[in-house]
Amino acid sequence: MAPPNSQLADHPGCPVELIARPLYHQDMKFLIFLGSARDSTPPRPARLGQRVSMMCHRLIADRAHGAQIIDPLDYDMGGIFKPHFAYAEGRAPQALSDLAEAILAADGYVMASPEYNHSMSPALAHLLNHFGASRFAWKPSAIVTYSAGQWGGARAAMGMRGFLSELGCLPVSAMSHLPTAQEVLDDEGAWTSDSAKWDSYVGRTLGQLEWWAEAAQRQRLEGDTRATGAFDRVSSQRNAP
Ligand SMILES: Cc1cc2nc3c(=O)[nH]c(=O)nc-3n(C[C@H](O)[C@H](O)[C@H](O)COP(=O)(O)O)c2cc1C
Repeated sequence: MAPPNSQLADHPGCPVELIARPLYHQDMKFLIFLGSARDSTPPRPARLGQRVSMMCHRLIADRAHGAQIIDPLDYDMGGIFKPHFAYAEGRAPQALSDLAEAILAADGYVMASPEYNHSMSPALAHLLNHFGASRFAWKPSAIVTYSAGQWGGARAAMGMRGFLSELGCLPVSAMSHLPTAQEVLDDEGAWTSDSAKWDSYVGRTLGQLEWWAEAAQRQRLEGDTRATGAFDRVSSQRNAP
């Protein structure tokens, strides 16, 4: 695919190496997975994840990228686990198929997870388990955890690194952890104090996500298939001889 814009003609006098680089990142879009399906109390408040997701949405929009919040409550996943890839072509529930397409089309992901018993949100893991790793492949993710307690979900985040790596969307190095998130964020996802510091803290994570997403997007758009075989092999072929 041709680069979307190379703007040489628009910048007379500018060193070629500065302007020949296509600005792919202007078109990037991110999915923000809201990690909570809890809609009851105690503990109060419920759905703290909404505030965290709205905050991430705002910060991504501030960077002029597209962002969409994915809420597990919008998906009827039934009582018996049946992943999207287990359905015959065209037979999966529409909402699940729409999400599968959105995952494929996204340039990166924010995984906003509460900490439940020192682990990542089971609702988030359950939703993500509905989709094969090929949908997430060649795209980065960012881990944003939160909790009502003092550790901000840091223990959950450790497990998420392994989970997301296996899923194919490698998590960037900088993570964000939000302790006492019910005090730090209001109902609208705005910081209650120290906004500039919090923006900068989460912005570091999102900045890394943006950098890697742009790099991965360029590689995909340039049709680099050198590594394709290494990504395509089925599980049984990954084993050592
Ligand atoms: C089942 C369960 C387990 C929890 N385990 C932890 C925990 O290990 N560490 C922690 O800091 N908070 C824990 N909490 C408190 C959550 O941080 C708090 O309820 C938060 O609001 C959950 O996010 P949510 O409202 O988006 O579901 C737990 C809450 C629940 C419901």
